[in-house]
Amino acid sequence: MGRVAELAGVSVRTLHHYDEIGLVRPSARTAAGYRAYLADDVERLREVLAYRRLGFGLREIADLVDDPAADAVGHLHRLRGLLLEQRDRAAAMVTAIDRELEARAMGIRTTPEDQLKVFGAQLYEVIGSAYPATRRTESRIAERIWAALGDARTVLNVGAGTGSYEPPDRDVTAVEPSAVMRAQRPDGAAPCVAASAESLPFEDRSFDAAMAVSTVHHWPDPVAGLREMRRVARRVVVFTYDASTTGWRDRFWLTRDYLPEFADLLAGWPSLTDMTRAIGGRAEPVLVPWDCTDGFFEAHWRRPEAYLDEQVRRAVSVWTRVGPRAERRAVERLRADLASGRWAERNRDLLDLDAAELGLRLLIA
Ligand SMILES: C[S@@+](CC[C@H](N)C(=O)[O-])C[C@H]1O[C@@H](n2cnc3c(N)ncnc32)[C@H](O)[C@@H]1O
Repeated sequence: MGRVAELAGVSVRTLHHYDEIGLVRPSARTAAGYRAYLADDVERLREVLAYRRLGFGLREIADLVDDPAADAVGHLHRLRGLLLEQRDRAAAMVTAIDRELEARAMGIRTTPEDQLKVFGAQLYEVIGSAYPATRRTESRIAERIWAALGDARTVLNVGAGTGSYEPPDRDVTAVEPSAVMRAQRPDGAAPCVAASAESLPFEDRSFDAAMAVSTVHHWPDPVAGLREMRRVARRVVVFTYDASTTGWRDRFWLTRDYLPEFADLLAGWPSLTDMTRAIGGRAEPVLVPWDCTDGFFEAHWRRPEAYLDEQVRRAVSVWTRVGPRAERRAVERLRADLASGRWAERNRDLLDLDAAELGLRLLIA
């Protein structure tokens, strides 16, 4: 026990406590009669300590590690997701602090309310609450998705978030690994299971269809997640992004002229062929209407001023992922080009378009 405590960086008392409450029990005995940890016990201890570090209470952890639907790989995926969430949150906090430092350097005092937002629990409300406000079902895209679901009666929505695009007239089950997102699902939304796409806790062919909207690029292993969707459902519908053609950089003025760092986010991203192969289906382009109501990254292609709005940016993970420096530079350059008329000059052709091809795709199998 002493050796395990030392390796794990916890006290022997802590291990005794976990043993007493049945959280992690050393299941072997040494020749001298002492309790000893087997490989499975150590694996469980590792999961317990990781969840503990993420701030979960012991009772919650017991439910998590006893979850019969999650194996070791499932736990690793879940932990990875939680850590990424924490990292994004820390990055957003750094941005908020940078902003306050800048304001103070210019002699501007922030309001007490703003100061609390930076350090307190409200920070997540600032990021999180932007989500339901600007990310909502875009009816023209929803029509395409729902048509692709065909006559499916039972539908699994993977990476469901707050429930956008869930068809109102079918029997929907949602899957969402983030507790923050689950907590924001409106009253009356479809029942939601805490799980990851890569390890869906359902039998083969449990659903008529499985759908995933604007989520695949968040998954640690998109191909594994898509295969899981294929396994649990007879039909698969995925709304995602084609990063595989070299033209992506030129397709959208925002990434071409202001945010080349977007390229870094696509590293390791599977090609459209890999994704369609994983579900055994085909891809159809989805044009983005000029007045798209779902505030995803490309939504404001003909309304460039929207990208100057912090609320609009905070509801899109791209902005947090590129980091505060790139974000600030892109926004300031765009602001200057809009003021000088340079943006309008360069993008004159867009103003005549009602919808644009920006690489969004519907995968159907
Ligand atoms: C941009 S949101 C989209 C939510 C919703 N589908 C929509 O269209 O509004 C991406 C969602 O993917 C979820 N997600 C991240 N990793 C995931 C994984 N491995 N499996 C399933 N969902 C995941 C996030 O927690 C988040 O709710």
